Amino acid sequence: MTPAKRLPLLLAAACFALPAVAQGLQIPKPSPGLMPNPAAGKSLYGKHCASCHGMDLKGTDKGPPFLHRIYEPSHHGNAAFQLAVKNGVRAHHWKFGDMPPVPGLTPDEAAHVTAFVRVEQRRAGIQ
Ligand code: HEC
Repeated sequence: MTPAKRLPLLLAAACFALPAVAQGLQIPKPSPGLMPNPAAGKSLYGKHCASCHGMDLKGTDKGPPFLHRIYEPSHHGNAAFQLAVKNGVRAHHWKFGDMPPVPGLTPDEAAHVTAFVRVEQRRAGIQ
């Protein structure tokens, strides 16, 4: 590929990273060496996320489903989960309104929750 043809691709890739950088947001990082545990994530998810995203990850009238192509790992990577927990999410994909930050969940706990979501997504054929 010529450099000229590669530029639009680079710009497209940068679009995903730029909003976080532009707002000076730090992506919370789980502890080095943490093994994310889907079983631990499941109970944390039930406590902190299921009221809006649904215990079956199929969404509710307050939040979107995670068993959806929009949330496959290549579109919403693990950093998106860390940022959502820490800062909340401004409504942009759906009409449910904003997601408020979820205080009291550490980056390690958010990583467990993400691992649980990824297991369920893979089971549903979303990867
Ligand atoms: C009060 C309801 C509510 C709760 C509780 C909630 N969410 Fe959300 N979440 C939303 C809504 C609404 C959106 C969709 C925003 C949009 O894109 O329109 C969303 C979007 C997201 C996104 C997508 C972020 C992006 O970049 O587009 C992630 C990831 C997420 N939530 C993770 C979580 C996790 C993890 C928990 C539990 C720790 C959680 N949410 C708890 C309402 C909620």
